[in-house]
Amino acid sequence: MSDGIVFSDEVNHALKMAYQTPDIVAARAEVISGLVLQKGQRILDIGSGPGLLVRDIADSIGKSGSVLGVDLADNMLESASTLCADLSNVSFEKGDAMSLPCQDNSFDAVVSTQVYEYVPDLNAALVEFARVLKPGGRGVIVDTDWAFPYWNAVDFDVRDLIVDAWKAHCPQESVPLRLAGAIKASGLALNQTKVVPITNTSYDETNFSYWLSKIIGAFITGQPNINESDIKDWLKGLETLHNKGEYLFCINRYLFEISKPAC
Ligand SMILES: C[S@@+](CC[C@H](N)C(=O)[O-])C[C@H]1O[C@@H](n2cnc3c(N)ncnc32)[C@H](O)[C@@H]1O
Repeated sequence: MSDGIVFSDEVNHALKMAYQTPDIVAARAEVISGLVLQKGQRILDIGSGPGLLVRDIADSIGKSGSVLGVDLADNMLESASTLCADLSNVSFEKGDAMSLPCQDNSFDAVVSTQVYEYVPDLNAALVEFARVLKPGGRGVIVDTDWAFPYWNAVDFDVRDLIVDAWKAHCPQESVPLRLAGAIKASGLALNQTKVVPITNTSYDETNFSYWLSKIIGAFITGQPNINESDIKDWLKGLETLHNKGEYLFCINRYLFEISKPAC
């Protein structure tokens, strides 16, 4: 089993808030649309995190279907179980994307969003994705390219320091560049690749990048080459830009629509 990444409770809170912003609600809707879900299907969400996508999937497949969320982190599994406590067709299980606790050919659709950047062996994870998907089944993978956040700043040197430190949060920085190869090597078919940008022109609680800045601040605190004053100055600078009407953030998420060839 890989070590993965275990987020602190502070980061988990900011993640949950980020996931409820209109930016990410819209991004989840794109995922649901790519899965082309039908009533009664059995679906797997790999790295299900706080469980919001699992909830959306459960709505789409109805009570005759079922959703399994697999995640490595106990605190994520707890949050997700609480969020979905009222849904009888949802379950969660601890497991690693590189060795899924699931039988071969057991899901009509498989999804994984924002997970593979944390997984040490992308090819092994895709082989697992392919193994558990039924022949003829569909899949969606979404990952962000953290190498290129486009983010205005008052002090660009500090911004670069912060963004570089944040890159340490995931071992696979440019995973979208490697996904097409890994998907095809696993025997799956790549049907479409879409870019789903998130653009924010204001810095407040309704926007993804507001919560992302809090996540980054919490995550990089204590790193050897980062002073707490740098983090404070950077966050204050984002507010300054917002107040001047000069705030700008854009990041690209890449959505891969996949299918498993029928036997
Ligand atoms: C950024 S969160 C994304 C959560 C969710 N998929 C979403 O988009 O809302 C990353 C999740 O991947 C999980 N994770 C990281 N490495 C993993 C691994 N090797 N196997 C399973 N889950 C993993 C983390 O515990 C965390 O819940």
